[in-house]
Amino acid sequence: MDADIERTLLSADQIAKRLDSLAQQIVTDIEAATGLSDPEHPHNTLTIIPIMTGSIIFVADLVRRLPLRMRIYPMSASSYPGTATTTQGITLSFGDRVPSELGGQHVLLIDDILDSGSTLRAVTDELNKRGPDTLHTCVLLRKQRDQAMSFPIDYVAFDIPDEFVVGYGLDYDDQYRNLPEIVTLKPEIAQG
Ligand code: IMP
Ligand code: MG
Repeated sequence: MDADIERTLLSADQIAKRLDSLAQQIVTDIEAATGLSDPEHPHNTLTIIPIMTGSIIFVADLVRRLPLRMRIYPMSASSYPGTATTTQGITLSFGDRVPSELGGQHVLLIDDILDSGSTLRAVTDELNKRGPDTLHTCVLLRKQRDQAMSFPIDYVAFDIPDEFVVGYGLDYDDQYRNLPEIVTLKPEIAQG
């Protein structure tokens, strides 16, 4: 696996440090916006919706830094089937955990990476139809390209160059998710 790596963009240590500050920011903002820290608040449980599978490691590390009462309802979205590295339409699957009515709920939607924005747009459109009290959005990575940089988003851990990356949950052909850092692959491995 290591032989397929071209270069490391973000080390495990850099990611861990950034998550500490991001988590603090999220807790402060969400408590202020929602009153979630108030034990008397009628809806004092945060609803975390991670988009699987890419956000799996990010969410696991982030939620353990959020000392808030929460429920976690994973959903999935797939826009890069197999070895394709360009967007090919999106399939959303809310499973049976994401409530069809989100009235009274404060939702934090979490994805791995903001690229064209079509995944987050499709998911936020659908979640907004379900009427949450608040909907905040968070990604680990945002690519420095116009479509991503102009997309409205609440929290971004890192802005990265517009390159295909894997590791820390992100995949190429469902592989490399277990790499502890964010890396690029050698061109002969990932053909765009
Ligand atoms: P978007 O819909 O174009 O914003 O793409 C978002 C989704 O595409 C993410 O949730 C990822 O699953 C996938 N994706 C986009 N860029 C990359 C990448 O560089 N590496 C791995 N997956 C990516
Ligand atoms: Mg994804």
